[in-house]
Amino acid sequence: MKSKHFPKSFKWGTAISSYQNEGEYNTHGKGPSIWDTFTNRKSFKKGNGNTATDFYNTYKEDLLKVKALNLDCFRFSISWSRIFPHGIGEINPEGVAFYHDLIQACIDLNIEPWVTLYHWDLPQALEDQGGWTNREILDWFKTYVEFCSKEYGAKVKTWIILNEPMSFVGLGYFLGMHAPGKKGFKNFLPAAHHATLCQSMGGRIVRKNVKDAIIGTTFSCSHVSPLNRRVMHKKAAARIDALVNRFFIEPTLGLGYPMDAIPGLNRIEKYVLPGDEELMPFDFDFIGLQYYFKIVAKFSLLPPVLFAQEVPAEKRDVKINAMNLEIYPKGLYKVLEKFNAYPGIKNIYITESGVCFEDELIEGKVNDKNRINYFKKTFKYTLKAIENNIPVKGYFIWTLVDNFEWAEGTKPRFGIIYTDFKTQKRTVKKSGLWLKRFLSKR
Ligand code: NOJ
Repeated sequence: MKSKHFPKSFKWGTAISSYQNEGEYNTHGKGPSIWDTFTNRKSFKKGNGNTATDFYNTYKEDLLKVKALNLDCFRFSISWSRIFPHGIGEINPEGVAFYHDLIQACIDLNIEPWVTLYHWDLPQALEDQGGWTNREILDWFKTYVEFCSKEYGAKVKTWIILNEPMSFVGLGYFLGMHAPGKKGFKNFLPAAHHATLCQSMGGRIVRKNVKDAIIGTTFSCSHVSPLNRRVMHKKAAARIDALVNRFFIEPTLGLGYPMDAIPGLNRIEKYVLPGDEELMPFDFDFIGLQYYFKIVAKFSLLPPVLFAQEVPAEKRDVKINAMNLEIYPKGLYKVLEKFNAYPGIKNIYITESGVCFEDELIEGKVNDKNRINYFKKTFKYTLKAIENNIPVKGYFIWTLVDNFEWAEGTKPRFGIIYTDFKTQKRTVKKSGLWLKRFLSKR
């Protein structure tokens, strides 16, 4: 398989996010986000993103690397509290200027800037008022999206409204593993519904403000299979699948929440006000799929909500990444097929895929053959999808440089470029060199 086998218009990119990369967390006028609060607590032992990869200061050099790797597009997110330090109200001109400079730097290098409006770093000032659980987030998000789309719309054509709603709502407002560390149905259900409404509302605002905008939103997804053929495990897998894969895309497509598949989900109706049903869908130009691992599910009485549990990958004698998740490239094909089966899907971008290891720099080199292998295989499955008429239009590698992996800190390294977090020195890994060669022959 060669890159020339892909359509000429196929977009190759890489993706990063503000909190995981920018650093300068409390300078240049930026207000605190929930991730600043979460990682700077005494009880949090995995470091913090205060400096991260120092992208705020290194973006020019990092973009030169994007160019040198022969990539076409660069996906990054805007930090809401860098623009609005208090979430709403006062604007930070330095923050506004930073994203202008970053966008301009992309354009100058002929790299397409792809903007994500929300990649999990909610302003702390808004969390203090309930964050995603407070319906007022519709007004806060409206103000933020109106501002960004008007400010940057002349230069940015491709907009992504939310990054993986199930991740920030599920991990942040149900399991308490991510910022803001809230738990339970009473937080999850309102947060989920407000995220659904903000996602479509964000789409409508960008459509209104940006001429010829291409608008998408992204979903985390996994290939879910049952432990074996027993009916109870199959049913358990279906419930996990509904939570992991169906929960956010279905209301966006006008299909409502997958109530029948998730026990207790009907309690979300309490938060669905008259008129909401019509506001939930939006006609996105594309959906972004973000694929990393496979899940094996079994019936369980343990977590009482779903009657289902994941079977840890370590117990299954399979290949795992540095986060103990199963590496399963073929799953990318399966999720592409699955999401494409929904009516109304126009285009699909793989807005993230990648794999983490505890890479080591030895004598100035990182020999990450296993990552090359992952990309070779997932590229092959992407091509197969295109050949089977699935409208996959691009692939964004997660990620450019090793960065701050949320609750996991800096141990799992996802980059095709190695970051020395003490010096911020970057070293292109073998996978980066491979990618550069792969893309040079288009
Ligand atoms: C998805 C998230 O969007 C990104 O921020 C994260 O680093 C990757 N998954 C890897 O876990």
